[in-house]
Amino acid sequence: MDFEQLNNLKGFMPSHEGLALTKWAEEFSHYGPVLEIGTFGAKSTLYIAAGSSIHNQLVYTIDHHSGSEEHQLGEDYFDPEIYDEKLGRVNTVPLMQANLQQFDESKWIVPIIANANSIAPSWKIELGLLFIDGSHTEISAMNDYDNWNSKLHSKGALVIHDIYEKSEHGGQAPYLIYQKALTEGFQLHERVDTIVCLTHS
Ligand SMILES: C[S@@+](CC[C@H](N)C(=O)[O-])C[C@H]1O[C@@H](n2cnc3c(N)ncnc32)[C@H](O)[C@@H]1O
Repeated sequence: MDFEQLNNLKGFMPSHEGLALTKWAEEFSHYGPVLEIGTFGAKSTLYIAAGSSIHNQLVYTIDHHSGSEEHQLGEDYFDPEIYDEKLGRVNTVPLMQANLQQFDESKWIVPIIANANSIAPSWKIELGLLFIDGSHTEISAMNDYDNWNSKLHSKGALVIHDIYEKSEHGGQAPYLIYQKALTEGFQLHERVDTIVCLTHS
C-alpha cells in the first residue's frame, strides 16, 4: 500500500487514525472479514484493506452514497465535487471508483450501495471487525450499533470513529454508542485520537 498516496485522497480519515485502522484490521481479520458502515470515497476502506488483505479477507463497505446530513447542499461539509447536477443530489460513487482504481488492494473491497439498516436483517457472515463511520445523528448511530454489533465474532473488534467527549469539540452520537457498548459487554482495547477499538470483555 502506498500510504502517502492514500493519505492524499479526499475523505475523512486522517493518517494517524487510518494507520490504527490498518493495524486493527490486520489483528482482527484473523477472525473473519471486515464490514464498514460509511464508505464515502473509500479512504478508510483502503486503510482497512491494507491490514485485512494480509489474511486474504474481504472488506464489505456499505454506503447509500447520498452523503450524510452535513454533506448536503448548504451544509458545513458540502463539496460541489461530489454533487451530481443530473441526479440533483450528492453522489459519492464516482469518487469511490476513482479512488479505488488507484490501489491494488481494491480487489479485496466489496462496495455495497444501500442503507445499512436494510442490509442488517439478512446479514449472516460473522465479522472479524465492524467499523462504524456512518451518519452522526443519534438515531442513525444507534441503529448502526444496535443492528450490527451482534454480527461480530466473539473475538472480533468494534471500531467507532469521531469520539468526542465534549460537544464543543464534535457531535456526540458516536460517543453515545461508545458509552452504550461499554455497558453491553465491550471494553476498550485501544484508542488513537478520536477512533476507538473495542473488544468483548
Ligand atoms: C463521515 S462519512 C464516511 C467517511 C469515510 N469513512 C472516509 O474515510 O472518508 C459518512 C458516510 O456515511 C454514509 N451514510 C450515512 N448514513 C448511512 C446509512 N444509514 N447507510 C449507509 N450509509 C450511510 C454517508 O452517505 C457518508 O458517505
